[in-house]
Amino acid sequence: MQDTKRRDFLGMALGGVAAVGAVASLYAMKRSWDPLPSVVSAGFTTFDLSALQEGVLQTVEWRGKPVYILKKLPNSKKTQGRDFELNGALYTVGIQICTHLGCIPSFNQGTQEFACACHGGRFDSSGVNEAGTPPPRPMDIPPFKIDGTKMVLGEEGQEYKALLEAKNA
Ligand code: FES
Repeated sequence: MQDTKRRDFLGMALGGVAAVGAVASLYAMKRSWDPLPSVVSAGFTTFDLSALQEGVLQTVEWRGKPVYILKKLPNSKKTQGRDFELNGALYTVGIQICTHLGCIPSFNQGTQEFACACHGGRFDSSGVNEAGTPPPRPMDIPPFKIDGTKMVLGEEGQEYKALLEAKNA
């Protein structure tokens, strides 16, 4: 009788140790699968639009990609599906990667155009590819949200959705 009780106790004790070990292992595995806090926060890039000067391109990094933001010159025409208005000014934003073969076009402040040195691609100030040059489509627009005068890259806000709707209209 005593032996039976002792075996039961040992069995339960070993089972308990095994269960604790299994939970600890699962917890360790889950932690290794979760993204690091810095990676999660790196999914968003915040930028203050009030710091921009008209006609001067600003480039920021978002998820490892260059993203340009341009406050367009006064009297610039608004390109539907590409530009948005904020406090009476026109802004445009895009991923500064050529849609031909992926080079990074440079911005010419004098002409307010992008030129891609790789094969002569050109884009206007709203990131739209110019006819007769190699890029097949405009530069991509990253998801963004406007929060006061701040732009948050990586979140889909009203302005971004409005651009998509205007583009698809
Ligand atoms: S990669 Fe830009 S024109 Fe070819």
